[in-house]
Amino acid sequence: MNMKTIATIVGARPQFIKASVVSRALRARPTVREVIIHTGQHYDFAMNEVFFEELELPAPDYWLGIGSGTHGEQTGRMLEAIEKVLVEIQPDWVLVYGDTNSTLAGALAAAKMHLPVAHVEAGLRSFNRRMPEEINRVLTDHLSTLLFAPTETAMKNLQREGIPAKHIALVGDVMYDAALHYAEKARQKSTILERLRLSPGGYILATIHRAENTDAPERLRVILDALAQLSHHAPVVVPLHPRTRQRLQSFGIAVGDPDGLSFIDPVGYLDMVQLESHAAVIITDSGGVQKEAFFYRVPCVTVREETEWVELVELGWNRLAPPISIDSIVETVLAVQGTSGREGNIYGVGDAAQRIADYLSKR
Ligand code: UD1
Ligand code: UDP
Repeated sequence: MNMKTIATIVGARPQFIKASVVSRALRARPTVREVIIHTGQHYDFAMNEVFFEELELPAPDYWLGIGSGTHGEQTGRMLEAIEKVLVEIQPDWVLVYGDTNSTLAGALAAAKMHLPVAHVEAGLRSFNRRMPEEINRVLTDHLSTLLFAPTETAMKNLQREGIPAKHIALVGDVMYDAALHYAEKARQKSTILERLRLSPGGYILATIHRAENTDAPERLRVILDALAQLSHHAPVVVPLHPRTRQRLQSFGIAVGDPDGLSFIDPVGYLDMVQLESHAAVIITDSGGVQKEAFFYRVPCVTVREETEWVELVELGWNRLAPPISIDSIVETVLAVQGTSGREGNIYGVGDAAQRIADYLSKR
């Protein structure tokens, strides 16, 4: 039997969710040995362990414990630590996900060692180089041997950048696989609506963590003021990313305390699925949450200037409301409430993880 060793590199919350479905597909194959390397980019229980528990993701074989830091510090320390592990295990593939600093560090360490890199969620572009994620994605794509594009737009972006078609596979989106796999479990297990006393379809869900929004006090202020105004129309629940909590504290931004606005700790995936699927509207700057809003057919308002997930805007499920005007966010949210976009099969059929496992186990 020709065994393949696949080194999966994860580090941040969305990567645990994406890797959970691919890992399950890989481990079902007798010819594959998966080794999970966790950079430690996210480390709080609510940003890390809860996902390993709920998604039954195997415990990491290597915990690098890198933690937080500036981009250079964090990425550099990861690069050094990942290289040591790759030297030891000499994998046939190095598998990286998305667009975080863990993604870039994994791809760069591997490429310099002439190890083939496979990139899940390749080809996404915001065309905004001020975003750290855009730099991470472009570089990772150009370091990769096998690029798993989730959408046709992503595939075209890669071809436009000169990446040969033979290196690109349009497989669909693994987050859609995850949504299909865990939706029923979330319905059965999550009690978050009862705990927060929320009625299905009767509240707004918001998540904010993107650096361009959290690190600019005026943008963060606009978003919070918009959420406070909206809370007079319907309860607004905000699972707060630790980055956002910290910035609110360090900028001294107080939100007043409208009754309907509740900030809660980050929630596990099953609770998040439950919150998303029963929300009236979702307000977010997260990439993953924009897609999940569509999976559950909930209208979404993205508080950014642009989105990588352009199909959602084209179909009418997602509207952009840049956080420069409180009124425009509030008006957009009130306008989309109760509306639907058009249907479209843009993220595949839920077999992206199987197709990725096929490619990796055969090549
Ligand atoms: C990272 C990714 C971003 C992704 C997000 C998912 C980069 C450049 N950014 O952003 O693309 O959308 O993860 O959530 O890789 N912190 C904690 N506890 C934790 C983790 C972080 O308190 O467990 C705090 C620290 O103060 C840290 C800050 O959050 O400095 C930011 O964390 P970091 O991992 O650098 O970036 P994210 O904003 O999480
Ligand atoms: N998520 C979660 N709990 C939360 C917030 C988000 O489980 O409190 C999940 C969400 O459902 C999605 C993923 O985390 O699957 C998105 O991650 P995040 O918004 O941190 O990053 P992005 O997708 O923007 O990179």
